[in-house]
Amino acid sequence: MASKLFATKPIKTIMAEAEGGGEHTLKRALGPVNLVTLGIGAIIGAGIFVLTGTAAAQFAGPAIVISYIIAGIGCVFAGLCYAEFASMMPIAGSAYTYGYATMGELVAWIIGWALVLEYAFGAATVAVGWSGFVKSLVGFFGTQLPFNPTPSLSLVVFGHTLSAQVDIFAMVALVAITIILVVGVRESANFTSAAVMIKVSVVLMFIGLAAVFAFGHWQHMLTNWHPFIPKNTGHFGQYGWSGIMRGAGVVFFAYIGFDAVSTAAQEAKNPQKDMPFGILGSLVICTVLYIFVAGLLTGLKSYTTLNVAAPVADGAAEIGVQWGVLLIDLGAIAGLASVMLVMLLGQTRVLYTMSRDGLLWSWIGKLHPRFCTPYLITIVMGAFAAFLAAFFPITLLGELVSLGTLLAFTIVCLGVWVMRVKQPDLKRPFRTPLVPVVPICGMIVSVALMVSLDAPAWIGFGSWLIVGQIIYFSYSRKHSKVQKLAAAAGD
Ligand code: ALA
Repeated sequence: MASKLFATKPIKTIMAEAEGGGEHTLKRALGPVNLVTLGIGAIIGAGIFVLTGTAAAQFAGPAIVISYIIAGIGCVFAGLCYAEFASMMPIAGSAYTYGYATMGELVAWIIGWALVLEYAFGAATVAVGWSGFVKSLVGFFGTQLPFNPTPSLSLVVFGHTLSAQVDIFAMVALVAITIILVVGVRESANFTSAAVMIKVSVVLMFIGLAAVFAFGHWQHMLTNWHPFIPKNTGHFGQYGWSGIMRGAGVVFFAYIGFDAVSTAAQEAKNPQKDMPFGILGSLVICTVLYIFVAGLLTGLKSYTTLNVAAPVADGAAEIGVQWGVLLIDLGAIAGLASVMLVMLLGQTRVLYTMSRDGLLWSWIGKLHPRFCTPYLITIVMGAFAAFLAAFFPITLLGELVSLGTLLAFTIVCLGVWVMRVKQPDLKRPFRTPLVPVVPICGMIVSVALMVSLDAPAWIGFGSWLIVGQIIYFSYSRKHSKVQKLAAAAGD
């Protein structure tokens, strides 16, 4: 039985399926610049626009800059490992497929399930951030909404009254994006490229405005940057170095998305060369932008005031540039919408691939007769994400996403090492440097970031993994195509 759990999917089969033709063959149209743009489109979102403020206020203070550097270094290690896999297996399934080829079905299942967590909870996290910027925009115009956008809901469960606030804007955003995805993603490609341009311009504008302000108000900035590392309160994760680590675990969310470049491998013109360029290029550009934004934001405003829905817009308000606030609100609204779209789309691709491998029910792969999209799973997961966004706070959602993604990163790093030992002669157009040092460093940073996250996130993550194991052992194992093939071959 153990051998079955670790049955691997041969790379030859994976590549043959990818080249297999029919409806699954994707056009190779993306060049290196397109891939970097795609990466930046998936990366810049609620992390930099919202979590920078909340994490500085609650965990790290101005040292959130160090948190960004630590998380960025961890991502570069993992990015180098992703790049080796993406150049070696330029197919659409991403980390799930790499896991299937190297460490077998159970590990692949766990990565796939962690990726579903990353994308579903990620879309919900971004939706809550998006809603904050919509409210900030409404506030900018001094308009009164005819309804309360976050009404309270009370439920009586076993005699206990539970109350929660419902984030209506976040919910509506996800329902709208789900409808767009069901009708067809082709229409949304232009919207995504426009959104990338808008959000990068807005981030550069913020950096420019804040830098000019900093030169004229050096004392103001120095006062806010002091103390750079606020003293720990006596609790793990509340300021001090443990706070910097927890901050890194939270803002790690801001980097998520560079792995999405690897999901486009099948659409790349020259995947062997361009995948590493796309993954690492988008990652490095965003790391530099993030360090500047985080440093300047905590200089503009005291970190104690940054636990708000739209901290970067508040930072621009501090400079006194009202049109800057407006542009940041509008840019974040467009930019975050594109991240939600990429995440919900990425999730249906992972689930769709798992269903084609027989690890999930076949209805997941069912296409809409007119729109040719996997509409059933898109609707189910869109509704699930809308539920999460409506009821849960952004920090908890973000931490859960970080946990799921860090687990996937850890396994990908391990996979590169395992593969070098098991199949040293395989053609590797891009080689991760200094193996096993880089994969080991990637694993160490990922695990350290995971450990720094809070108990409620770990409880949610553990429950998610348990549900995954129940599905695997009750359904997937019995319906796996790889296992059926192995049985037919008398393995
Ligand atoms: N990195 C993406 C964001 O920050 C997920 O929204």
